[in-house]
Amino acid sequence: MNNFTFYNPVKIIFGKGQIEAITKEIPADARVLITYGGGSIKQNGVYDQVMQALKDHAVVEFGGIEPNPHYETLMKAVSMAKQESIDFVLAVGGGSVIDGTKFIVAAMEYEGNDPWDILAKKIPVTKAVPFGTVLTLPATGSEMNSGSVITRADTKEKFAFGSPFTFPKFSVLDPETTYTLPLRQISNGIVDAFTHVLEQYLTYPVNAPLQDRMAEAILLTLKEEGPKAIQNPKDYDTMANFMWCATMALNGVIRVGVPTDWATHYIGHELTALHGIDHARTLAIVLPSLLRYKQESKKEKLLQYGARVWDINSGTDDERIEATIQATIAFFESLDIKTRLKDYEVGQETIQEIVKRFKARDVKDLGERADIQIRDVEEILKLSL
Ligand code: NZQ
Ligand code: ZN
Repeated sequence: MNNFTFYNPVKIIFGKGQIEAITKEIPADARVLITYGGGSIKQNGVYDQVMQALKDHAVVEFGGIEPNPHYETLMKAVSMAKQESIDFVLAVGGGSVIDGTKFIVAAMEYEGNDPWDILAKKIPVTKAVPFGTVLTLPATGSEMNSGSVITRADTKEKFAFGSPFTFPKFSVLDPETTYTLPLRQISNGIVDAFTHVLEQYLTYPVNAPLQDRMAEAILLTLKEEGPKAIQNPKDYDTMANFMWCATMALNGVIRVGVPTDWATHYIGHELTALHGIDHARTLAIVLPSLLRYKQESKKEKLLQYGARVWDINSGTDDERIEATIQATIAFFESLDIKTRLKDYEVGQETIQEIVKRFKARDVKDLGERADIQIRDVEEILKLSL
C-alpha cells in the first residue's frame, strides 16, 4: 500500500427530515447566502424546508446556477455576496450548485486580480468563506469532497480546482429530496458514481485489499440499487442506498494508499465543454475505450473487477477482459446511457479539436502510470466513434 494522509472534515447529516438540522449548524448571527439552480428546489418543497429552518437567520438568495456552472454566473453571486456582507453560504442542489458555491466562497476571499486564475493557472486557494450543502442529486460526491469543476461559457473551457478550504462544513443528505429527479439525472448519477469508483480502482494492484473490497462493495451496491432507483425512484431505502454510494464513491476513502487514474474525467470534461453533453454521459463514452486501450497495463485489476463484480471467471485473459468491458457497457446502456460519440452526433472534428486544445495546454502524462499522452487520447477517442 502507498503512503497516504487522509483528511475529511465534512459532517454528514443523513436521512428524512434532516433539513431542519441546518438551523443549528449555521451560526445564529451569520448573514447567509442560499445558492441554488434552475428552480427544482422551489417545486419540490426543499426550498420551503430550508427557508423554514433559517427563518430566524438573515438570508439572501442567488438562484440560476446552471448545470456545469458558469464562471460568468458565479461571479455575479460573488459581487452580490460581497455587497451583502455574507459570511456563510448554503448550497441547495446537485453537483453544479455545490461546485459553483465552492468557487463562490473561494472567489470571495481571492486576493489576486481575477478568480478565474484559480482554475486556469491553478493558483492555490488560501482561504474561503464557510459553506454547507443540502444535496438533492446523488452523483458527484461534491457534498463530501473539496473539488469543484467550473465552465467558462465564452471560451468553452471546463476546469477543476480543489483545496482544503473548500470542504463543506456540513452536508444534509435527505433521500426524500431526490423523489423529483428526472430519470435522466438518476441514470447520470449512477454512472458518474460507478465511474468514480472505477477510476480509483481499475489501475494496478498495490496490495490494498481493503480499498479494493470497499470499491467493489460500492460497485456491487450500485449494480443492485441503480436499476431499482430507475424503476422506483420514490422508494426511500433504494434512494438512501444510492445516495450513500454516490457520496462514498468520491469522498476520498477508497482512494487512500492506491493509484488513481482520472484520465476518463479529464477527457470527458472536453466533451461537455464543447458539446454540452451531460458529465456522466461523457464518462460512459470515454471509459470503455480507455479500458480497451490500456487493457495490458490494467490487466490484473480488470480481471479482478470482472470476476468479483460481473462473475466473469472463464475464458482466456483477453476474453475475460473483453467480456468485462462489455458488461460495463451493457450496464450503462441498460440505464439508457449511450456509450458512443456518434450517439451524441460527435465525430472526428471534435477529436481533432480536443487534440488541438490539449497541445495548446501542453497536456501530458495522464493516467495512473502517467503514460497517456495526447496521441493516446486521440486513439482512445477514435475507439469511441
Ligand atoms: O438546476 P435545478 O433546477 O436544480 O435542476 C437540476 C439540473 O437541471 C436537476 N436537479 C437536481 N436535483 C433535482 C433536480 N431536478 C429535480 N429534482 C431534484 N431533486 O438536475 C439537473 C442537473 O444538476 P447538476 O447539479 O448539474 O448535476 P450533477 O449533480 O450531476 O452535477 C454535475 C456537475 O458536477 C461536476 C460535473 O463536471 C458537472 O459540472 N462534477 C463534480 C465533481 C466534484 N465536485 O467532485 C466530480 C464529478 O466527477 C463531476 O465532474
Ligand atoms: Zn464524475
